[in-house]
Amino acid sequence: MEILIRDTLKASAQMAARVVLKIIHSEEKTVLGLATGGTPLRMYQELIRMKQTGELSFKNCTTFNLDEYAGLLPEDERSYHYYMMSNFFDHVDIDRKHVHLPDGNTENLRDACRKYEQQIKNAGGIDLQVLGIGANGHIGFNEPTGSFASRTWVKILSEQTIQDNSVYFEKQEEVPRHVVTMGIATIMESRHCLLLANGAKKADAIRKMIEGPISASCPASILQMHPRVTVVLDEEAAYLLTFKDHYKWVEKNKLDWQSY
Ligand code: F6R
Repeated sequence: MEILIRDTLKASAQMAARVVLKIIHSEEKTVLGLATGGTPLRMYQELIRMKQTGELSFKNCTTFNLDEYAGLLPEDERSYHYYMMSNFFDHVDIDRKHVHLPDGNTENLRDACRKYEQQIKNAGGIDLQVLGIGANGHIGFNEPTGSFASRTWVKILSEQTIQDNSVYFEKQEEVPRHVVTMGIATIMESRHCLLLANGAKKADAIRKMIEGPISASCPASILQMHPRVTVVLDEEAAYLLTFKDHYKWVEKNKLDWQSY
């Protein structure tokens, strides 16, 4: 894993956006996997800025989001469809035909999940998958003890995640219990993962993910088995890492072509 630690939220977001920029510039067509939540918001703002200054275009990008709540309409302000449109897609030059989010609002969720997996395959797989991490170590909505072999499917949120995400709802009871999420195996097939985390609340999950044993009790720890993972952290999210100084040393000694 490549661990990049930054002093400020702004610097972390700029770093993350540069990783995205590099992959878009290096491919003729890019398939991006995207995440929602509080963490990537600043990265999206930075990408929008890059689009406005002409540094970056999303014309040749196809996107697949990680997850969506079951039972929320796309126009519901709390849905991830709405989040992605208002925080990103409405501000960049992406072709809407190339935007995909899991359908959490269909009669047949199981078919929709299978279709989503097929759409990712048909697009040639994901070049860069952006990830956040739950305080309990989840990636996508793959909660602790779920299978590492899982694919896009309907999952039940843990009580901790319901509580964590209740800040986006008026009442905790309004947080849907069911979600559609890419599975761990789906995420692991992407060619490069970019995981972002900020704040002390994530420090324990980050320590387990990077330095702990690989265990389904911290789903993100499976990323230790992925050939290409970039982790961008602020100092608070990194503060429990035993090898923090080593990660900084490695970054300082990178070859030119290895940096972003
Ligand atoms: C969101 C997602 C989740 C979040 C995680 C962290 O699409 O897949 O895994 O990344 O719950 O959420 P925030 O960033 O709100 O702390």
